[in-house]
Amino acid sequence: MIRVVIAFYVLAIFLVSSGHGNVVPFRDNNIFPGCEGYMFVDDEVVIEGPFNEDCVLQFETQEDRILAFSVVDGDLIETASFLSIHDGIDSKAPVLLAENQKVLEVSNKDLPTTVYTTQSEAVIRFTNKKLTSNLKLKIQKAVRCAFNLGIDSQCGRVVDEVSCYCATFVNRIHPDQTMFCVDHNMKLVSFENRTEEELVQAAWGTEVSYWTSLTDTRRDGTWLWESSMTVPADYTNWYPKRPNTAVNNVDDCMAYGGATYLNFWGDIACTTMAHAICEAQP
Ligand SMILES: *[C@@H]1O[C@H](CO)[C@@H](O)[C@H](O)[C@H]1NC(C)=O
Repeated sequence: MIRVVIAFYVLAIFLVSSGHGNVVPFRDNNIFPGCEGYMFVDDEVVIEGPFNEDCVLQFETQEDRILAFSVVDGDLIETASFLSIHDGIDSKAPVLLAENQKVLEVSNKDLPTTVYTTQSEAVIRFTNKKLTSNLKLKIQKAVRCAFNLGIDSQCGRVVDEVSCYCATFVNRIHPDQTMFCVDHNMKLVSFENRTEEELVQAAWGTEVSYWTSLTDTRRDGTWLWESSMTVPADYTNWYPKRPNTAVNNVDDCMAYGGATYLNFWGDIACTTMAHAICEAQP
């Protein structure tokens, strides 16, 4: 019951502070009464020092998600002497180390040091109030990101800290790549914007073709990102004179890459064999 009350209280503060970028001040411990606290992380939250010595803050997110901790304008490694982040809430929960995460997390991109839990709960313990006065900690809900999805594949947090992308270098027809992603609790990729596409292409190149979730199989001429059921409204990257607008043409699936379309989008028959990119969003 206390948990519920605190969570409610935090929610109320959130609403008040949402105009200031969701920064929750911990000053005077008035949000986490006493020296213990609990917060449910829906999406992301930034908490601000000073944090009281010997305080224990507990965080939890959606059951099938994990937590990502980072320091705003700073380095998590430097904080190791005055706080520890634990993977899970039991008293023997292991400390998450920034150094170890590089090994755990495969990434083609240098991200600011972020540590990830393996479960949906974590605890922070503080040891020195003085050193935490300017500290801002960002806690985000994230998806798990495996090394790979089996042989001939590779995964990484190539776009941001919380999502995960995997490339499969096995050629399959479009529906089979869709199923391959689903079988790994992921979705065939949808590009929301140029940045996302560029980062994925930078990670795995465009020398060969990669399937995406964009198709017009439901209705010829109406392209839809199948994974998100959205129409590419704000961003498209078609190769010149594509897509093919002939009625009843069979070029119903979009792949990028390869000698013909380079880093542009090409519409080709869904029965073509190609690599694919899967994605998972928190
Ligand atoms: C672009 O898409 C990515 C991935 O979905 C998202 O995280 C990012 O916020 C988007 N960027 C912009 C500028 O909309």
